[in-house]
Amino acid sequence: MLILNKAAGLFPKPSKRKIYEFLRSFNFHPGKQFLHKLVLGIETSCDDTAAAVVDETGNVLGEAIHSQTEVHLKTGGIVPPVAQQLHRENIQRIVQEALSASKVCPSELSAIATTIKPGLALSLGVGLSFSLQLVNQLKKPFIPIHHMEAHALTIRLTNKVEFPFLVLLISGGHCLLALVRGVSDFLLLGKSLDIAPGDMLDKVARRLSLVKHPECSTMSGGKAIEHLAKQGNKLHFDLKPPMQHAKNCDFSFTGLQHVVDKLITQKEKEEGIEKGHILSSAADIAAAVQHTTACHIAKRTHRAILFCKQKGMLSQSNAVLVVSGGVASNLYIRKALEIVTNATQCALLCPPPRLCTDNGIMIAWNGVERLRAGVGILHDTEGIRYEP
Ligand code: KG4
Ligand code: ZN
Repeated sequence: MLILNKAAGLFPKPSKRKIYEFLRSFNFHPGKQFLHKLVLGIETSCDDTAAAVVDETGNVLGEAIHSQTEVHLKTGGIVPPVAQQLHRENIQRIVQEALSASKVCPSELSAIATTIKPGLALSLGVGLSFSLQLVNQLKKPFIPIHHMEAHALTIRLTNKVEFPFLVLLISGGHCLLALVRGVSDFLLLGKSLDIAPGDMLDKVARRLSLVKHPECSTMSGGKAIEHLAKQGNKLHFDLKPPMQHAKNCDFSFTGLQHVVDKLITQKEKEEGIEKGHILSSAADIAAAVQHTTACHIAKRTHRAILFCKQKGMLSQSNAVLVVSGGVASNLYIRKALEIVTNATQCALLCPPPRLCTDNGIMIAWNGVERLRAGVGILHDTEGIRYEP
């Protein structure tokens, strides 16, 4: 049963006419038989409007995504009402594209799965509202999805990974280490006490004005830092990894962000450069931040692996560490994690980059996993709320 909390959001009343017209537009492949169960997944928790149709065996039949990154880069961060408006403008088209690409008629779906938590309230509301209109019109089961669960289970779509496994989720909004014991059975081992690593990298990139750098103008903050770091010397600045003496698996990135902020201000003075212009030492700063971030993430993960092995919660010889989220696409951070997994006889697995970041496939796949396990499938959507 879905747990509702007081902060849960309400959504506007569905427009029946709009959804009816939407459904009427699907008149292809009459009578085509699908052998497997089919799940439509819808994701709008942050700044990507995404949808996909995945079958029971993990075949991705169709997908579509609209990214808002470019718009939010211009405003220097996500403005929730802007994100909401863009989701509203794109959701119908994106779901339609995913369904059309899959050649599946909405009536042939076995269930609709949608992210309902956690995320931005205004963004979650658009996806949930749209999904509930579809669910009610089509009389299909609804599967509410926890965004982090979906990230964690994605690896089982691409690789044969059995429970339990360790998962490290690192992105702009998430930072956690958990032991995944089953489809909805997670043991949280550590989390960020403040901001997520991607958020910190985005803030540093913004402070360095990397959006004005000719090579980085269209890149996310984290990607820009990775790109520039290749041209820099990571040892030029001595940044200390956070929480070196904390005996747990938690993370922290705000302190590092403040230290780097001060360093940039000092360098601006030294180089006689005004805020908003690019420092000659930007690449060295990017390299040092990336290195320190990688060290911090690797050390906390090492600790979690040792803890789980010691407690017999992970196999001594066949343990698996799954790393996902936007920051997991950083090859320097992956290399640091590879050193950790080699030293602890663990296998390191990362979903392909397009499945590391937010997408509709992971939501549909989480729906399939829940359908197969028979958990969290709702036939009555009364009282369903999103949870920011
Ligand atoms: O998973 P994601 O698409 O969205 C959520 O935050 O949920 O991750 C986006 C984050 C951003 O903070 C972005 O700067 C970061 O992932 N990112 C990277 C890289 N590519 C994206 N961070 C480090 N290195 C990268 N190559
Ligand atoms: Zn995410």
